[in-house]
Amino acid sequence: MDIIAGLKDKVVVITGGAGVLGAGFTNALAKQGAKVAILGRDLVKAQKLAEEINNAGAKALGVSADVCDEASLRKAHAAINEQLGLVDILINGAGGNHPKGTTADVFFDRNNTSGLQTFFGLDTEGLRFVFDLNFIGTLLPTKVFAADMIGREGCSILNISSVSAFHPLTKVVAYSAAKAAISNLTEWLSVYFAKEGIRVNALSPGFFLTEQNRTLLTNEDGSLTERGNKILSQTPMGRFGQPNDLDSTLLWLCNPDSRFVTGIVVAVDGGFLAYSGV
Ligand SMILES: NC(=O)c1ccc[n+]([C@@H]2O[C@H](COP(=O)([O-])OP(=O)(O)OC[C@H]3O[C@@H](n4cnc5c(N)ncnc54)[C@H](O)[C@@H]3O)[C@@H](O)[C@H]2O)c1
Repeated sequence: MDIIAGLKDKVVVITGGAGVLGAGFTNALAKQGAKVAILGRDLVKAQKLAEEINNAGAKALGVSADVCDEASLRKAHAAINEQLGLVDILINGAGGNHPKGTTADVFFDRNNTSGLQTFFGLDTEGLRFVFDLNFIGTLLPTKVFAADMIGREGCSILNISSVSAFHPLTKVVAYSAAKAAISNLTEWLSVYFAKEGIRVNALSPGFFLTEQNRTLLTNEDGSLTERGNKILSQTPMGRFGQPNDLDSTLLWLCNPDSRFVTGIVVAVDGGFLAYSGV
């Protein structure tokens, strides 16, 4: 990957920066010479990745915060300002799903006697958890960290949406709607901050095999589950994504030279969204 001069020494906060995709973002930006703040609930995990990056000669800081808790974000913000400087770029990578926000079946079956979760049995707390983590967990870090970007050049925000924001995935009702809200928020923020020159875009990954979805997509012996098979049969490139498949799009959207690129949601999905299946 070529070195992008404009990313050198930029202070980048990556929420969920030690997760599977988040660690890919963190490493890609550290390799560009950015100073990376890895923010997550698990301080040990964030600090371990920061240590690896620092040992490789780049600059990283692990900080703990809950993206749904403004006070903890403000504390992390103060630590980042003190140790790395003002924030130039924010990647809102923390997010995920919860089984209580999903139905068991694709279609409603009025004769269902299995006791498995239908739409009518969805748990309000489960739904709220998914909305809070994905939507509020994107809005609050933006509220806290974007304040540093006012009046400065080359600043941007990158939200992490999903292909489920374009057309909802079956069963995952709350996650799909929350990611659609992130795509919508991306456009809203891009307009709101346009006069300040703060660009706001979103990256929508397709299907990547991670700890969150491994048991949903693969069996213990590594073979595909029915859902895993269904996804690959709908993905023209015929494979799951690898975290580093996102690097070039991430760097393009964060590159200060992309100065006229704002308010877009870019899917990186091996053709999933383009394929009607017929
Ligand atoms: N894996 C995929 O196929 C896929 C596809 C589309 C979108 N995404 C999105 O990409 C992002 C990263 O997903 P991933 O697959 O790497 O998941 P992951 O679980 O590996 O990473 C998520 C990270 O966020 C952190 N986190 C969770 N809740 C938090 C909170 N309240 N406060 C702070 N940190 C918190 C976790 O500790 C973890 O490090 C998520 O927004 C996810 O929805 C993933």
